[in-house]
Amino acid sequence: MTLSIRKVAVLGAGTMGHGIAQVCAQAGYEVALRDVAEGALAKGIAAVQKSLDRLVEKGKLDAAERARVLAAITPTTQLADAVRDADVVIEAIPERMEWKLETFREIDASAPPHALLGTNTSSLSVTEIAGAVRDPSRVVGLHFFNPVPVMELVEIVRGIRTSEAALDDARALVTKLGKKPIVVRDFPGFATSRLGVAIGAEAIRMLEQGVASAEDIDTAMKLGYRHPMGPLELTDLVGLDVRLAILEHLHREVGEQFRPPALLRQMVRAGKLGRKSGEGFYVYAKS
Ligand code: 3HC
Repeated sequence: MTLSIRKVAVLGAGTMGHGIAQVCAQAGYEVALRDVAEGALAKGIAAVQKSLDRLVEKGKLDAAERARVLAAITPTTQLADAVRDADVVIEAIPERMEWKLETFREIDASAPPHALLGTNTSSLSVTEIAGAVRDPSRVVGLHFFNPVPVMELVEIVRGIRTSEAALDDARALVTKLGKKPIVVRDFPGFATSRLGVAIGAEAIRMLEQGVASAEDIDTAMKLGYRHPMGPLELTDLVGLDVRLAILEHLHREVGEQFRPPALLRQMVRAGKLGRKSGEGFYVYAKS
């Protein structure tokens, strides 16, 4: 039987988490948005407001619907409160395995047994994360893309112990969110991150080698390949720290072709993380 969904708990109010909370609320679900810090929650809610304002300005959403969507999202710092009566839990915390395992142990202690448990990890092992809960058959990867309200794909990752029923529930959820699912096997980097970081890392190496300027490398892929953004602009959007973490993981798990470029490490050490820090391969006006 397909899961009946009333409430979704989203853990982590960062770039991905607040976007996921927004699309779940827009699809008509009650949403609990949890982060460890009040400040992070406030920032996440402000970002949802800004994104909804954009939709209202474009005439894609009316003011009453904007108010309904915002009212459907309840911010909280308490994980147990967020997941207690949730039908779906989506974890979107930073890409550190030990943090994910701890979070899934906490989810397991408070979420109802029927709940579908999703992780938005972009490259870590869903099978390993699922090992933190008593019933790993209910755990799937639900990999969203930034900006979540705009991007049409969700990559569903099937862990070794993910059940057919959980996969069906995940497909139904993604479709209800207005997005297209693809299903991939639990292999490091899945389909999207593996291809995405390969192009991004090569672009950074080309910049290091003086092949062309950042602008020209990005223009090459926008005009020559019709990518909506160049690979360096996209790295700024995703976050240099996020891409470095994915590359380090793929370098360990898959092989030499994913060795992170030295320039990427240096920029992360210097706090140049992309749009979120105000500077990456480009400089951004403070919003
Ligand atoms: N909320 C709501 N709407 C938004 C939005 C947001 N946060 N951001 C953009 N939009 C809307 C705009 O309002 C606009 O709507 P319209 O078509 O009705 O006019 C539309 O999206 C396009 O936006 P803009 O006109 O401002 O700008 P662009 O046409 O340049 O598009 C972009 C911006 C959608 C970001 C586009 O450049 C793009 O698709 N870039 C590639 C993004 C990408 O590859 N993301 C994946 C990253 S990898 C990832 O996330 C995985 C992770 O695990 C690392």
